[in-house]
Amino acid sequence: MDAERPRVLVARAVFPETVERLRAHFEVEDNPGDVLFTKAQLTERLRGKAGAFTTGSERVDAQVLDANPQLRVVANMAVGYNNLDIDAFNTRGVLATNTPDVLTETTADFGFALMMAAARRMAESEHFLRRGEWTRWRYDMFTGSDVHGATLGILGMGRIGQAIARRGALGFGMRVIYHNRSRLAPEQEAPLGAHYVDKATLLRESDHLVLVLPYTAQSHHAIGAAELALMKSTATLTNVARGGIVDDVALGQALRERRIAAAALDVFEGEPAVHPGLLEVPNVVLTPHIASATVATRRRMAELAADNLIAALTGGVPPTPVNPQVLRR
Ligand code: DGY
Repeated sequence: MDAERPRVLVARAVFPETVERLRAHFEVEDNPGDVLFTKAQLTERLRGKAGAFTTGSERVDAQVLDANPQLRVVANMAVGYNNLDIDAFNTRGVLATNTPDVLTETTADFGFALMMAAARRMAESEHFLRRGEWTRWRYDMFTGSDVHGATLGILGMGRIGQAIARRGALGFGMRVIYHNRSRLAPEQEAPLGAHYVDKATLLRESDHLVLVLPYTAQSHHAIGAAELALMKSTATLTNVARGGIVDDVALGQALRERRIAAAALDVFEGEPAVHPGLLEVPNVVLTPHIASATVATRRRMAELAADNLIAALTGGVPPTPVNPQVLRR
């Protein structure tokens, strides 16, 4: 072992090339078996490490940081970083990085595909066919709702939200309405024909509502029973953001009672567990948190996380810091 080189933990299985690249700079402890560490195990594995390569599944909070005061950077292979307690990072001067931009278009493709699958009842009808229940053509068999020309509602108009809006407006002639913490500049709204509306209007007017906002204490259960009650009975709801933004119990009930037509979910409260109320209803498309999962994009995410880790520990400038203020200290 080279005592001069910083030690890093690669907390989950990742592309072997990425691990090899890190080995050129660091003493690397990796996890090729992809063991899911408990918090105690993660804390222990981080002992003596200057950096960590994590995914959205590893929670790094004040306790983990306090047990590892030598830790200088956590490079998260995800654009979302709700698994990192950024306030705790800031007060301890630890850098957090994420992987924005490289997954925007891939995630938007998937969000749009999920929304279409819900609107046109693709999963539900496929299950019907596989069960051998298809015996004839019928005029009203699996009739859904149109996507083209419909009103696309976006809650959370960041990079991915805008990319979904672009697909809807330019590809499918949709009217785009959105709600966000801050309104886009007119030159960003204009090419999308996007209209900023309050949340209640968004819920009332969307034919297809897509959630793309970050998960924070403020966005916890941003869509619950009260919000679902405002939606059209013909509407669909798609979530490619984070579990916990939707109250899954309330959504299961709304779908069962057909208070909205359908939903499509890539993320869940307490995933990988999925609330039984969602598993029981036919009118929901369920996927296992794969919106960014193309080979090319996952490679780009891994490379960007590695770029951040290498730069942070070798005197470079990390390309995508979450809390750049700690670099200035
Ligand atoms: C992200 O990048 O945040 C995706 O959800 C993968 O975790």
